[in-house]
Amino acid sequence: MTAASGPVVSAWPHLFTEGAAGSPVLISLHGTGGTEHDGVALARELDPTAGIIAPRGRVSEQGMNRWFRRLAEGVFDVDDVEAQSDVFADFIRAAVAEYKLEGRMLVVVGFSNGANMALATAIRHPELVGHAMAFSGMYPFGDRDLPGSLDALRVLLLNGRQDAMAPYASVTRLAQALAAAGADVERFEWDGGHGITRDELLSAREWLAGVAASR
Ligand code: MLT
Repeated sequence: MTAASGPVVSAWPHLFTEGAAGSPVLISLHGTGGTEHDGVALARELDPTAGIIAPRGRVSEQGMNRWFRRLAEGVFDVDDVEAQSDVFADFIRAAVAEYKLEGRMLVVVGFSNGANMALATAIRHPELVGHAMAFSGMYPFGDRDLPGSLDALRVLLLNGRQDAMAPYASVTRLAQALAAAGADVERFEWDGGHGITRDELLSAREWLAGVAASR
C-alpha cells in the first residue's frame, strides 16, 4: 500500500498478533476505560488461533480511553462517531498493508463503546471490514439513517435485554435498519444487562467459525 502505512500504524497504540496462516484477523476494541489488553483478551476468547489487532481508543473522557465523544451516557456526538470511524478505517487499511494481511478475513469486534465503534466502522466501510461482532452495542448514529447498501456485511449483535446502557429498542432499531440495508444480521439475546456472558462467547465463537467456513 502507500508509504504512509508505517507512520499511520506506529502512531496508533495497538497490539498485533499474526495468528495462524489464513485465520481470520480480529480487530478487537475495548469498552470505555479499557485498553488494548482487553481487546486481546476478548479476541483470544473468540479464536485463540486468529490474528489480532487490538488498538487503544484515542478519545479521552476524564482520562478514560474511548473511541468517540459522547454528550451524555447513550447520547453520542454523531459527527465524531462518523469522523472517528473514518480515521479508524484508515488505520485498518494501513495495518493490513503494514502486517501483510491482504486476503485474510477481517472481523471487527468490540464491547460497549468498542462495539459501537466496530459497528460504525463496518457500516461506513463494509468494503474494508465485512464482518462485525458487537457485544453490548447499540445504534451508533443517533437520529441519522444508515448510509447506503450493506449487502456485503455480516453482523452478530449480542445484547442483554435489560441493558440500560445499550437499550433494547436501540438494538432492535439497529438490527432492523441493517436488515433493510441488505446486511446479514444475527442476534443473541439474554436476560441481563451490560457485560459479556459465557453463553454469548460460545455463540460468538460458533458464528465466527460459521462465517469463516462459508467464505
Ligand atoms: C457508549 O458511550 O458507547 C455507550 O454508552 C457505552 C459506554 O458507556 O461506553
